[in-house]
Amino acid sequence: MIIAPSLLASDFGRFAHEADRADRSGAEWLHLDIMDGQFVPNISFGPAVVEAVRPHFSRYCDVHLMCEKPEILLQPFTKAGADGMTIHVELGAQVTPLLWKIRSLGRRVGLGVNPPTNINEVRPYLAQIDVLLIMTVNPGFGGQSFIHECVPKVQQAAAWRRELGLKYHIEVDGGINVETACECARAGADVFVSGTALFHQRNLGAAVRKMRSAVLNAHTESLFQL
Ligand code: DX5
Ligand code: ZN
Repeated sequence: MIIAPSLLASDFGRFAHEADRADRSGAEWLHLDIMDGQFVPNISFGPAVVEAVRPHFSRYCDVHLMCEKPEILLQPFTKAGADGMTIHVELGAQVTPLLWKIRSLGRRVGLGVNPPTNINEVRPYLAQIDVLLIMTVNPGFGGQSFIHECVPKVQQAAAWRRELGLKYHIEVDGGINVETACECARAGADVFVSGTALFHQRNLGAAVRKMRSAVLNAHTESLFQL
């Protein structure tokens, strides 16, 4: 189980301090939301910010590209210190070359799917990816409510993972708090991105530990129900 606080919900005036706080919290991954104002109606931050925060987080940096033209960003984010990069299946014909490019840069390969997009769209790529990111809000902004209708996608992704003997992570992102994280854990998710519900807590470490132990319990319970 991996907890990934999203820097999007942190204090933008103090990125280094916030990344330090995430590091001290014991969270396994730091999630970095890159928005270009085209793929989503918002702009966040770019490779220079990731490069500046990189020395402040000692574990895995998970770069989520909500961008229309990720091809121009893969090299810069690799240089900035990304361990993995996720692009979106909604990019259509660009998806295959982008996945190859991420792999060729030696980074972990992620593929994201938005709430309105059918989960069958990711099926052809499953053998090529390390992370399947199932969006549980429409991307663009932090602090939105979890869309429960996305949970069956997590179940389908977990069923495919079993049937095909693959090992990709199933990551959920958007409106994740202790309750919704448990709902997703029961459905088969194992990476939990959370912005508002973690960074807005004074004690980030306690919030991360609470979420991790809750999802571990939910996961164990679901195994016993099988
Ligand atoms: C949404 C981003 C998320 C966002 C989640 O477009 O991809 O990673 O930071 O934020 P919360 O947890 O506040 O919904
Ligand atoms: Zn994200």
